[in-house]
Amino acid sequence: MNKEKIACDVKRWAKIIRNDPQGDLYPNFLFFMTFYPEFRNLCYYRMGKFGGFFNVFCRQMDTLFLATPEIGPGLFIQHGFSTIVAAKSIGANCWINQQVTIGYSNETDCPTLEDNVTVCAGAKVIGKATVGENSKIGANAVVVKDVPPNVTVVGIPARIVRRDGIRRDEPL
Ligand SMILES: CC(C)(COP(=O)(O)OP(=O)(O)OC[C@H]1O[C@@H](n2cnc3c(N)ncnc32)[C@H](O)[C@@H]1OP(=O)(O)O)[C@@H](O)C(=O)NCCC(=O)NCCS
Repeated sequence: MNKEKIACDVKRWAKIIRNDPQGDLYPNFLFFMTFYPEFRNLCYYRMGKFGGFFNVFCRQMDTLFLATPEIGPGLFIQHGFSTIVAAKSIGANCWINQQVTIGYSNETDCPTLEDNVTVCAGAKVIGKATVGENSKIGANAVVVKDVPPNVTVVGIPARIVRRDGIRRDEPL
């Protein structure tokens, strides 16, 4: 059970969903547990083996898989429909949308996401790629190489269209 990370998750979700920068644990925790199945997946993941027990009474989403050994605080999952997160590690305050796959290319190679990374709807991040902090993977992009920090990438194969907020067109 990781109470500190759950408290950070609640704060971040409260800020995004309820526009509540204070994000007090109790009203918000109950609100998200009741109305946001994606939040339940994250919470049960944080609770480890106890999560499976609570899932009997209050079900998590069947289509959202968090198979990552280390997920930093403040992960926001906007929609968990058909989303698989099998990374080596995920940093703090990342954001993941629906129909995303973050996963292995073979038995050992899987991605690392640093802090504050956003993975938009339908994007795939595959194999031993590291996504640098503050970077954004555009909708439906396919990333198989390292992504530097502070960029936006789009397309298949993914290319850089923004670096430090400035429009670019660079290969990865
Ligand atoms: C990538 C994204 C974040 C936009 O980033 P941005 O820095 O504002 O990019 P711009 O809109 O300035 O576009 C830059 C270039 O990338 C292209 N582009 C933007 N998003 C793209 C995408 N997802 N796939 C392919 N190309 C894309 C634009 O057409 C533009 O190319 P051009 O100059 O040749 O016409 C956004 O397009 C995106 O994918 N958002 C997804 C949001 C999401 O998941 N929503 C679901 C909510 S339920």
